[in-house]
Amino acid sequence: MVGRTILRAGLAAALTSALLLLAPAPAVAQETIKLPAPETKGGMPLMDALTLRKSTRLYDDRALPPQVLSNLLWAAFGINRPESGGRTAPSARGANEIDIYVATPDAVRIYDPKANELRPHVSGDVRAKTSVLPFVRNAPVVLIYVADRVRMPKQSEEEQNQNAIADAAIIGQNVYLFAASAGLGTVILGSVDRKALPPAINLRTDQILTYTQPVGYPK
Ligand SMILES: Cc1cc2nc3c(=O)[nH]c(=O)nc-3n(C[C@H](O)[C@H](O)[C@H](O)COP(=O)(O)O)c2cc1C
Repeated sequence: MVGRTILRAGLAAALTSALLLLAPAPAVAQETIKLPAPETKGGMPLMDALTLRKSTRLYDDRALPPQVLSNLLWAAFGINRPESGGRTAPSARGANEIDIYVATPDAVRIYDPKANELRPHVSGDVRAKTSVLPFVRNAPVVLIYVADRVRMPKQSEEEQNQNAIADAAIIGQNVYLFAASAGLGTVILGSVDRKALPPAINLRTDQILTYTQPVGYPK
């Protein structure tokens, strides 16, 4: 009896190890990418950018140059008041709970606005999982707006959900305006692949996946 129990336990352990081997490989860290300092002057006059703002769904697969990526991320949610850490987009109760995950053909990295760098997160191409719409896979960059409930401790779950959506959408509009000014195309997407994307980017249960937003040169 005892022998059989031990055998069963051994089999279960072996099965668990085999399943772990079959499970997708854990995320492999990529190197940090230091971004060039963002160019925070110039660009198109605001009224011209508003005139040109639109959604674009067809992209050239040309990569964004590092300077353009740095400018884009700064416009999205960078620090515009270093003395206070103030950001280019407002945030409910100043929680600054949105992290921008940056999906490129080789990896997903997280924008660190203070260090002005892209921190390694997971390796591999998750762009096709950022929306149920197939065109996203052609964009050289897809931004993924992820809210962290930990940074919203005094808010009810409903408030957290609502504020995460509002804050991400405002970042999205910054991206639209920057794109118009820089000759890029973009579209904010609610049609996120909510099944495939969370495990692909190791989303924690206390994070909220809001919108995704491909950016690229229009085709
Ligand atoms: C919250 C939000 C979610 C959106 N989700 C999608 C989407 O899933 N797929 C899509 O193709 N466009 C999406 N859009 C873009 C709208 O379809 C687009 O803004 C609208 O058709 C008006 O076009 P315009 O942006 O060119 O003015 C979304 C826009 C917003 C504000």
